[in-house]
Amino acid sequence: MSIDGGSARVRDQEWDSGSLGDMPPEEFSRLAHDVVDWMAGYLDGVRDLPVFPNVAPGDIRSQLPTHAPDHPEDLSDALRDFRDIIVPGITHWNHPSFHAYFSITGSAPGILGEMLAAALNVNHMVWRSSPAATELEEVALAWLRGLVGLPDVFDGHINDTASTSTMYALAAARERAYPEAHEAGLFGQRPGRVYASGHTHSSVEKGTLALGLGRQAFRAVDTDDEHRMRPDALRSAMLEDGKAGLVPIAVVPTLGTTSTTAIDPVAEVVDVAREFGAWVHVDAAYGGPAAIVPEVRELYHGWEGADSIVINPHKWLFTPIDCSVLYCRDPDALIRAFSLVPAYLETPESGAARNLMDYGVALGRRFRALKLWFVMRAFGRSGLEARIRAHLQMARTLADAVDAEPNWERMASVPLALVVFRYAPREMDDEAADAANRAIIDRVNETGRAFIGPTRIDGRTVIRVAIGNLKTTPSDVESVWDAIRDAAASL
Ligand SMILES: Cc1ncc(COP(=O)(O)O)c(C=O)c1O
Repeated sequence: MSIDGGSARVRDQEWDSGSLGDMPPEEFSRLAHDVVDWMAGYLDGVRDLPVFPNVAPGDIRSQLPTHAPDHPEDLSDALRDFRDIIVPGITHWNHPSFHAYFSITGSAPGILGEMLAAALNVNHMVWRSSPAATELEEVALAWLRGLVGLPDVFDGHINDTASTSTMYALAAARERAYPEAHEAGLFGQRPGRVYASGHTHSSVEKGTLALGLGRQAFRAVDTDDEHRMRPDALRSAMLEDGKAGLVPIAVVPTLGTTSTTAIDPVAEVVDVAREFGAWVHVDAAYGGPAAIVPEVRELYHGWEGADSIVINPHKWLFTPIDCSVLYCRDPDALIRAFSLVPAYLETPESGAARNLMDYGVALGRRFRALKLWFVMRAFGRSGLEARIRAHLQMARTLADAVDAEPNWERMASVPLALVVFRYAPREMDDEAADAANRAIIDRVNETGRAFIGPTRIDGRTVIRVAIGNLKTTPSDVESVWDAIRDAAASL
């Protein structure tokens, strides 16, 4: 059959020549080798680049054309622009002196997994749309569950981010708290509550908001002097709300809060939540991977009593972003919240195989398990444990150095790999100290030697130094501490 009267074979030549269809395989192979060589050199030399780019808003955009090309361009030109325009505008999360937010890195094995996933380009929304992708996700998450010491009752699936995982957990909690709302919606229902500490990540409040529970549904529970949720304060809050007729939807303790890595006492929180019948979702997005290290596992005592737990391999398990794992004790609760199967997605395997589209809002899914599986294979339990332990030790060494220095004050203990402190000479009042700490952070970041960030603790502006990069060494940590003290001396 020919479409335009010509022979099919003549038309096929347009695909062979590259005027239709994809880039010819030889060209793809040549460029792919160039790209991989660039990647290897970049990862090897990233410490010589400024961590934070010396650019102002709009600088990158103004160097690029405003329209897509009308005709094909040689991709070598795009690669040149990538090197000359894009890379100079990149904040290098791979840099060993990147200590802002939570310092995270991918890794070579993770990058290889990501590349292969891009080549396969499968979308395993249902089992039959890519059986191996669905089943590798099951296998990889069972491995990870074993590494962090969670019992087999937890069933996992992968989402893009912890914000999504937490919103899905809260959706399951909402389904349990308001079963009739599945059909009728929340209109006319009694208001409910989601409890977390005042130090919890904003994703909990955002999830509450997105699920239509209303911002007032979020209640921040008081914390102790280590910024941990107080179980007695949680009980009082839940009692008070119960008397007012509010529905207890969920309690969200965090293992490793964003500002200080505080560890909420999860076992006691679970006990209180159970008294009131609330769902417990543990936010271990950052802290979860450290449970691989036996000597810190004690911090996680009681998390196995939760209904759901989020752990982000893209934060502290060397897996390129994005990869967030949601473990759920009753995965059917997620299915009840989300499953809705239109005729075009019905499959003959229903019941015999898992269809991952049933666990959340997204239909399409990237093959994220491949990179996580590569990371676990390439480093093994011992390699992951050693790398995370090294981060924990470097953080403690920095904390000791801060403690030993007059004029500096540590603002939180260091259970994981984040050190929070401030410059506070005795003669400086709090407002002046806040301004000084902001200035120190700006000066360090302007040098390009390191990238650090601020937070506010007990009303004061403080410096956060997060350690989590595969390439960071003890000398790098010494040099960021030197850069911080130099900046303070130059004020
Ligand atoms: C404790 C905690 N939970 C959740 C999140 C949100 O993570 P994501 O960016 O994967 O949504 C963060 C981000 O830093 C975090 O620190």
